[in-house]
Amino acid sequence: MTMQIQDYRSPKVTVIGAGNVGGMLAQRIAKQNLADVVLCDIVQGKPQGIALDLAQAHTISNLDRQIIGTNDYSDTQDSDVIVITAGLPRKEGMSRNDLLRINAGIVKDVVQKAIALSPSAILLIVSNPLDVMTYLAWQISGLPPQRVVGMAGVLDAARFQTFIAMELGISTADIYTTVLGGHGDLMLPLPRLSTVNGVPITELMSQETISRLVERTRNGGAEIVKLLQNGSAYFAPSAAAYVMVEAIISDRHRIFPAAAHLTGEYGLKDIFMGVPVQLGRQGVEKVIELQLLDEEIASLHASAASIQENINLLYSNESFA
Ligand code: NAI
Ligand code: 2OP
Repeated sequence: MTMQIQDYRSPKVTVIGAGNVGGMLAQRIAKQNLADVVLCDIVQGKPQGIALDLAQAHTISNLDRQIIGTNDYSDTQDSDVIVITAGLPRKEGMSRNDLLRINAGIVKDVVQKAIALSPSAILLIVSNPLDVMTYLAWQISGLPPQRVVGMAGVLDAARFQTFIAMELGISTADIYTTVLGGHGDLMLPLPRLSTVNGVPITELMSQETISRLVERTRNGGAEIVKLLQNGSAYFAPSAAAYVMVEAIISDRHRIFPAAAHLTGEYGLKDIFMGVPVQLGRQGVEKVIELQLLDEEIASLHASAASIQENINLLYSNESFA
C-alpha cells in the first residue's frame, strides 16, 4: 500500500513590527516549532538583523524553523496569521490623541499592505491603543469580523493572576482569572469569576486586598513603563500573543479574553472590546456572554464608552473617515 502525502506547507506567521514585542514573539513561535516566521519592519536592516540573530540562536538549540527578516511585503505573502505590533510608544510631550493618530496611520498602512497579499489570514492586533486599533484594522482590512482579534485580555488576566499568586503565596497554576473591557484604565478585572482551584477569590481575600490587586492590574502596563524608564513590557505581551497565535494555528478552540467584534452581546454593538472568545483556525469562533451583575455591566459600558470616544475622535480626522 502506498501512502498519499498531501502537499504540506509549513504554517506561516508574519509579525509586522520587529520591536521588543515583535522580536520576542518571533522567537517564541520559532522556538516552539509552531510556524515559519516573517518579521517585517519599516527600519532597514532591523528585521534582517534580528532574524539572523534568531536563526543563529536556534541553530545552537537544534531548531530549524525558517525566520525571514524583511522590509518587503512580498515576503509576507500567503501568511496564515498576521500579527501587528508596529507602532510608537507614548513619548514625553505627546498626548494620547497624538499617539492615537500616529499609530492609526501606521496600523492603516501596514494592514493594507499585509492583507492585500494574505487575504485569507487571521489578523491579530497588538499595537496600542489596542481596542481602537483592532476596530481600525477590521475596517481597513475589509475582513469578516471573526478574522480580526486584539490581544490584551490574556495579558491583563495574567497580571491579575500573578498578583493573586504573590498575595496568597501559591502557584499561578492553580489560579484562573478573567478581565473584560478595554485595555486601559477602565478595564474590568472580575474577582467574582476569578478562582483558586474553583474557589472564588472573594472567599479567600478581603475586599480591600482585592481592590488593591484590581487597581494594580489596571495599572499593570504603566507600572512596568515607570520601572523600565524606556519602553514598555514585552515578555508577558509576547507570551500572551503567542498563546493566541498557537490557538489559531493549531485550531485549539481555546477560550481567552480578547478584543472581539460585538453585535449586541453585553448590550454593545459595532465596537471591538475585551470579552471571552473561543479562538481557533477560523479566528473568533464564538463570543461568550457571561452573566454579569448590574454594576459589572455598568463598568463594562463605561469602558466601552471610552473606546467609542476614541473611535469617534479618530474618525473625525478626514484621513480615517
Ligand atoms: P517597539 O518600539 O519596540 O517596536 C515597534 C516597532 O514598530 C519598531 O521596530 C518600529 O520600527 C516598527 N514600526 C514603526 N512604524 C512601522 C511601520 N510603518 N511599518 C512597520 N514597522 C513599523 O515597541 P514594542 O514594545 O514592541 O510595542 C509595540 C506596540 O505594541 C506598541 O504600540 C505598544 O504600545 C503595543 N503593546 C500592546 C500591548 C497589548 O497588551 N496590546 C502590550 C505591549 C505593547
Ligand atoms: C502594556 O499593558 C503597554 O499595553 C502595554 O504593557
